[in-house]
Amino acid sequence: MSIASHYDGSASTYADQYDEAKIWTNEEYPANFFRLKLVRKLLKESGAQSVYELGVGDATPLAAVGSDGIRVAGNDVSPEMVKYAKANMESHGLDPEAIAFLDVQDTNAIAAERERAGEFDAVMAMGVIPHVTDDRDFVASMDAFLRPGGTMLLQFRNSMFSMFTFNRLTKEFILDELLVDAPQSVRTVVATDLDQRLAVDKPPLRTRPTGDGYDEILSRFHNPFELAEVVKSFGYHDLSFHWYNYQPAYPMIAGQVDPKEYRQAQMDLEGGTSWRGMFLCSAGLIQATKNTV
Ligand SMILES: C[S@@+](CC[C@H](N)C(=O)[O-])C[C@H]1O[C@@H](n2cnc3c(N)ncnc32)[C@H](O)[C@@H]1O
Repeated sequence: MSIASHYDGSASTYADQYDEAKIWTNEEYPANFFRLKLVRKLLKESGAQSVYELGVGDATPLAAVGSDGIRVAGNDVSPEMVKYAKANMESHGLDPEAIAFLDVQDTNAIAAERERAGEFDAVMAMGVIPHVTDDRDFVASMDAFLRPGGTMLLQFRNSMFSMFTFNRLTKEFILDELLVDAPQSVRTVVATDLDQRLAVDKPPLRTRPTGDGYDEILSRFHNPFELAEVVKSFGYHDLSFHWYNYQPAYPMIAGQVDPKEYRQAQMDLEGGTSWRGMFLCSAGLIQATKNTV
């Protein structure tokens, strides 16, 4: 089972999460609705007239950006997503041929696509880097589409959030990131202690009968500081973090709050710009400007 098959399976309903009319009725918190709002604002502020997106999904976000008068193009590895993306582009009066079916991890395919699509004022990737094996190769692929002085927007699953979840993810973060250089004897004691303090049986794994649920495919978290260093190393400046998908309580106790009140509390936090987002948000964006020399 593959990443493409996972996304093939969600292509027909993917647009629901961006539907403003459903932000109260969608079972899942509409985090990506707020991400798209943020992306449109950042692109507007950057003055970008053209945007390339790696991993467009069904192109609901890209078509919205295109409706803001920006030239858009992009790619995806899921055949179903590409099908929906092309239809979506067409229904917004945009060119369906601007969507390419390719794997961003295939460097030859990226080079050919860069040749075909040209250079852009901004490049973005939302929800894609969790699914690739090599961060440097991925950032290099994003970089290839961006003109000097252009804006990169790179979304990631935030590993720092695990310091607020008090569950298995916290244990993994402490042992695999914080204490990575500590002696094994110390790590063993800490691991035993954490097993008692934390809800290590949570969060439940998201699986599917087809074996390609979100937690069954490669879906990595990233450390914001480390990922920012990768971006910088490609010749970028003015890096900033933007946070979204706020959790005002750690998710395993959120059910103790009235659901409507909880969702309202989440939505009230969206758009926040303080340091708290680094711990309260399960996802973030790196914004960076490509050097001109
Ligand atoms: C979480 S979805 C996000 C879609 C879209 N960017 C959005 O913001 O709604 C991730 C998308 O990345 C695509 N993707 C994952 N790995 C990819 C790869 N190696 N090459 C191209 N696309 C990929 C998936 O097929 C999926 O459509």
